[in-house]
Amino acid sequence: MNEGDMTKEKKSIRAGNVHYSPVVEEIITAQGDREGQRCEEPFAVVVMGATGDLTARKLMPALYRLYLNGALPDCFTVIGCGRTDLSDDGFRSRMKGALSEFFEGNKTEKFESLSGFLSRLYYHRIAGKGEGEEKRDYENLAKLLERQRQKNDTAGNKLFYLALPPSRYGPTVQRLGEAGLGVEDNEGAQWSRLIVEKPFGHDLESAMTLDKQIHDYFGEHQIYRIDHYLAKETVQNILMFRFANSIFEPIWNRQFIEKVQVRALESVGVHYRAQYYEQSGVIRDMFQNHMMQLLAMIGMEPPSIFDSEQVRDEKVKLYRALRPFPTDRLDENLVLGQYTEGELMGEMVRAYRREEGVSPTSDTPTYAKMRVFLDNWRWQGVPFYIESGKRLAEKLTDIIIDFKTVPHSMFKNFIGEEIQGNRLVLSIYPAEGITLTFKVKKPGIGIALRTVNMDLDYYTGDEVPRLNAYERVLLDCMIGDQTLFWRQDGVEACWSFLSPIISRCEECDARKKLLFFYPAGSLGPEWSHAVS
Ligand code: BG6
Repeated sequence: MNEGDMTKEKKSIRAGNVHYSPVVEEIITAQGDREGQRCEEPFAVVVMGATGDLTARKLMPALYRLYLNGALPDCFTVIGCGRTDLSDDGFRSRMKGALSEFFEGNKTEKFESLSGFLSRLYYHRIAGKGEGEEKRDYENLAKLLERQRQKNDTAGNKLFYLALPPSRYGPTVQRLGEAGLGVEDNEGAQWSRLIVEKPFGHDLESAMTLDKQIHDYFGEHQIYRIDHYLAKETVQNILMFRFANSIFEPIWNRQFIEKVQVRALESVGVHYRAQYYEQSGVIRDMFQNHMMQLLAMIGMEPPSIFDSEQVRDEKVKLYRALRPFPTDRLDENLVLGQYTEGELMGEMVRAYRREEGVSPTSDTPTYAKMRVFLDNWRWQGVPFYIESGKRLAEKLTDIIIDFKTVPHSMFKNFIGEEIQGNRLVLSIYPAEGITLTFKVKKPGIGIALRTVNMDLDYYTGDEVPRLNAYERVLLDCMIGDQTLFWRQDGVEACWSFLSPIISRCEECDARKKLLFFYPAGSLGPEWSHAVS
């Protein structure tokens, strides 16, 4: 059967405590499955901050995996830029070390094509001290890229990845721009794209300033603001689930939904990132980006067509519907927490205040739970509880949708008034799937109900190579698809909602009132249960 043929695949549904035979037959076009999995156009990736942690842990393994999967074009190069003095070979052996430590593949896979991949790597030092010297370093980078175009047929396409501390974003883009590296040719046949890591700004004002600096040299269509949550398969699936099934959309609103919970609970602490985290805290680190994206996936209206601009238009409309918190009564809608020493998975772990690089009197929140409302027709009055924290009992990312209870219980003579509503769980981690709970009769004599689950394991029946989040964002940027990236108006709309909350939280009296301590390994501050 060739790629274009229709294949029939049976997907199985594992049903919690009810046993169903496989009931879903789905027609999948094999071609559709493969689309978007390979970039055909040659290019050079320039990693700014190539000797840093992100490059070693995430970017190189992602590029190598794409290479192994045949997703990269025949002609591509990777240029690492950094302050360290390294030769091309020095950089290659450093990246070889990074791959042997961080590439998650089997041993053969790890090394079989390594030399071919490493031979595509080059290094360019940017170490100039004054403005003049630094400018020269960037001009030399432009010359190197031009030589690559001629020697390695990269067609002049360039992808810049800012794997740098956020304070370096603005100045680096300025230098790239001054060296003419943001310029594309008129027909777009020679492109230049910029990937910016989070955080995009520290608040609304700094996000706008950074945006202006970038826009001096790069157009919006060239800017890819990363949110790796959007690249998760099961997050992308939310839109398919909502808008490719007609049975859910009619009940996806205030008339049928009681409440929604969006949770990203983590068991990890801050590790080596204390310096960044002390400035950021959980709201900037998780809410301004990932949590807002998850909220948008659940709450947004369907665009008329699945196109990056239209999808992002709908998200922005949703963010604009966020009801501002009364900042003088934050405690009605927000709980903050910070972990203390505790036992996690059988081991004692230290308190946040005792982590390396954290102030012993730090009031930085490592946990937050917010109740937000959306002022629009679909969601009026439905609370969305958004929760995220570090050093909690387990790592769990999911979205729970609780439907309203039946309007009248005809079984009240037998089982009382209370029948719990149906619950739909969209699981992102560790399970990747969908669970729907509903009520059925408990077998046997007499009238009794029980709750059963219908579970879908997202990957059942699918053999397409899976892309992890960094592989996905890199590939999308190479292909030029901005759907999974933030657009500036979305960034600003979220900062407009969150900045006043963060500012108020950072005032001393508010922090004392809102910040609760929770032992590592627990479910978060106890008060959090009171708000739900
Ligand atoms: C990052 C945050 O963006 O996302 C981290 O900076 C957090 O603090 C991480 O741990 C969580 O991502 P994931 O994919 O492990 O849920």
